[in-house]
Amino acid sequence: MFMAHNYYHVPERENIRVLEIGSGTGCNLAFLSKEGFATYGLDHSAFAVEMAKEFLEERQCSAEIVHSCATSIPFESGFFDACIESNSIHCNSTEDILKIFDEIYRVLKVGGKFFGIFVSDLSEEFGQGVPFDERTFDFTATKTLRGQFDGFPVIHFFGKEELLEMTQKFSSVLLQTDIMTLETGNNRKPLGYWLVELQK
Ligand SMILES: C[S@@+](CC[C@H](N)C(=O)[O-])C[C@H]1O[C@@H](n2cnc3c(N)ncnc32)[C@H](O)[C@@H]1O
Repeated sequence: MFMAHNYYHVPERENIRVLEIGSGTGCNLAFLSKEGFATYGLDHSAFAVEMAKEFLEERQCSAEIVHSCATSIPFESGFFDACIESNSIHCNSTEDILKIFDEIYRVLKVGGKFFGIFVSDLSEEFGQGVPFDERTFDFTATKTLRGQFDGFPVIHFFGKEELLEMTQKFSSVLLQTDIMTLETGNNRKPLGYWLVELQK
């Protein structure tokens, strides 16, 4: 939706450089490549990078995928028209998330856009697990009701004020909440996400 809304009208999509941060096994990269964008991915898991390369090759898609941490993005400043992420940045501590936002800002062109999906502190699981920092929890040894985050060493639950502060250097910030309520026995527990759109 974000890509369609912002970039489908562009006549030469191959000139639009899009970076996915935490590209995992490459589903979103395949989509971006099939849609004709200049596609780039980054992941700090060497295994994920290899899986993504295979996944794209099998589908005859092309993307440059780099093995790197998002706290230090190996591209020059102002290189990208857009950065996207899906469920990746919230797998980091507060300290690293601040670095990641700095890097996103740096590698975007002026006017460049970001879209991300971050788990919110409205979720039932906020505060469960072992505290890592104020809003970040280790779920490696914690069994939660629906298992959404079980096994993850680091999950950061974003609050609205926190997100506004972290993104204040961007010229435009749009935050929307998307809350699912999942049946868990007799309980209905919320699972909340922030849909985050930023512009440099
Ligand atoms: C839940 S997966 C999501 C994958 C993909 N975005 C998707 O929607 O299919 C999260 C991915 O983000 C990567 N990741 C998390 N933190 C990262 C960081 N600081 N730098 C690079 N990759 C990161 C993980 O290695 C993992 O592949």
